[in-house]
Amino acid sequence: GESTLETSLQGPWYAARGQWSDVAAGKQGKSPGDGFYLSTATGSDFTLDGDVRLVEGVAAALTFRATKDASQHYTVNVDAAANVVKLWRPGRDIATVPLQVERGRTYHFTVEATGPRIKVALDGKQVIDANDATSAAGQFGMNVYNGTAVVQDVTVSA
Ligand code: FRU
Repeated sequence: GESTLETSLQGPWYAARGQWSDVAAGKQGKSPGDGFYLSTATGSDFTLDGDVRLVEGVAAALTFRATKDASQHYTVNVDAAANVVKLWRPGRDIATVPLQVERGRTYHFTVEATGPRIKVALDGKQVIDANDATSAAGQFGMNVYNGTAVVQDVTVSA
């Protein structure tokens, strides 16, 4: 439908932290700190695609290989405070790449995860190629940090 999240993931989905609602453009999250909206669907090696838009505040993101409570995960964001694309997990910023981040603009992420290797493309251009072996598998989802974000068209392929 046109008033909810379009996704290939069967879910169910749930808010692990933050406030999440259906808006015309997708799923909208608001959170003062890190908010997560997670699918119960899991994966280890995959290609994850999704659109993120920062409405206001700091960061909008896709999350993968998360635990149920999002205490462990990988998240790739656009951060308008630091002006970076960032791949992070709790305890480590794995990679940060400079980017003039525009609020209100839709960014398309493609994440290719193969074992410890995590490659990220932004709007079709590869920006991150990293290795981290902390989380081998887990749930798919999305993240907002200190602001409001809208996420749409989350798809996963093997
Ligand atoms: C990790 C972090 C996260 C937040 C992100 C914003 O470095 O502090 O808590 O989501 O940065 O870029």
